[in-house]
Amino acid sequence: MNARILPHVTGPLGGLFTAPGDKSISHRVVLLALLADGPCRATGWLDCADTQSSLAAARALGATTAQDGDVVAITPPAALPSGPLLIDCGNSGTTARLLMGVLAGLLPAGGAVVTLTGDESLRRRPMARVVDPLRRMGADLRYAVQDGRLPVVVRGAALRGVDHELAVASAQVASALLLAGLGAEGRTLVRGAAGARDHTERLLRDLGVPVGRDPIGSSVDGPCRLPAFSLAVPGDPSSAAFFQVAAALVPGSRVLSRGQSLNPTRVGALRVLERAGALVVGEPAGKAVTDAGGEPRGDVEVRAGCLRPFMVDGAEMPSLVDEIPVLAVLATQCPGRSVISGAAELRVKESDRLALLARNLKRLGAAVEERSDGLVIDGPCSLRGGATGTPLVFETAGDHRIAMAMAVATLCTNGETALDDEACVGVSFPGFFNVLDRLLAGGDPARP
Ligand code: S3P
Repeated sequence: MNARILPHVTGPLGGLFTAPGDKSISHRVVLLALLADGPCRATGWLDCADTQSSLAAARALGATTAQDGDVVAITPPAALPSGPLLIDCGNSGTTARLLMGVLAGLLPAGGAVVTLTGDESLRRRPMARVVDPLRRMGADLRYAVQDGRLPVVVRGAALRGVDHELAVASAQVASALLLAGLGAEGRTLVRGAAGARDHTERLLRDLGVPVGRDPIGSSVDGPCRLPAFSLAVPGDPSSAAFFQVAAALVPGSRVLSRGQSLNPTRVGALRVLERAGALVVGEPAGKAVTDAGGEPRGDVEVRAGCLRPFMVDGAEMPSLVDEIPVLAVLATQCPGRSVISGAAELRVKESDRLALLARNLKRLGAAVEERSDGLVIDGPCSLRGGATGTPLVFETAGDHRIAMAMAVATLCTNGETALDDEACVGVSFPGFFNVLDRLLAGGDPARP
């Protein structure tokens, strides 16, 4: 066991932090570079296990990559490999799903046969949501072992644009279809992803690709190549949220997140924090910078206030889906009943997050009811860990966001706690504990 005793509150959290680069945008930089006409580059790029899966996939497909800290350069392949390829997407659903779309539109008929697989967690996650609509475009995708799951074998085929209506408001699926659409004949329209993160659409539009995004949906007209690009990746709001919730939980705290994404499809957790009584001060209107890539970026200050219970429902879910674990922790300290509903998607993330949250929080003594699509939490609860030397060990199932959420829960827990796997935070945020320690010590502006 790789157990870590989690840090306790040493006083209010304070100071500046710069969240690591946005994970969704960092993946897209690499995967869209495969479709570009020349070398692409990004600064502020997130270096973590998940994005390294995308980078390794790009190399397997013949791209040249170079990385110096948070600067990454990707030169697309002059020619795609012709032999069979096995690409391991690790723990990364974004790599697997977006790459299916990229490959479906990129591989020539009769060219390389590419098998996509992943770790145990990723091989359990649903893939039909991408495979079925891609097949309607003419893509040749086959399950190697079990229907609906990785490994999936992709062969080149001629694609045609299709009108899609998504069953799940998923940005990964919408992005996969739009990227496939760049290699298809005619218009690809994707409806049903309203409210989901729109990084692919913004980036494509910024590159001069006319992308419709309106109440009807997003569309691209293919076939279409992308120009080379260079962009700056803003800080990831899903990573910033751990410290913002921590600041809301510990009286007297005040933290400032520098240069984080202010994309409206990503800041749902800040809206919830405000409703829950935290003081949230965003970048004054008009001062947010819009980076190349079309992404708004700015500073956000969060201060502890007087907590109140909150509701989150399905309509809001796409804008905070990855922040539910830490928002559930927040709910344990809000006086009254907080209800999270419309969150069934959490059951098919890196773990069954609803089940794991309910189990871990109940073991701490929180009043949590697990429902099929959410959690009902009655607060405030006094949370209890183990005795010194016999910590209560949280079950993470290797899920990075569960691990970081439980580290935040420890800030309002008496007694010792540990994670059964601290290394899993490296899936999205390798410097997480350093930033947490710094903010607990009063803060320091350095980027993790
Ligand atoms: C992501 C979309 C979301 C999110 C995931 C990253 C993306 O997943 O949970 O961490 O980069 O498009 P869904 O598309 O399944 O909602």
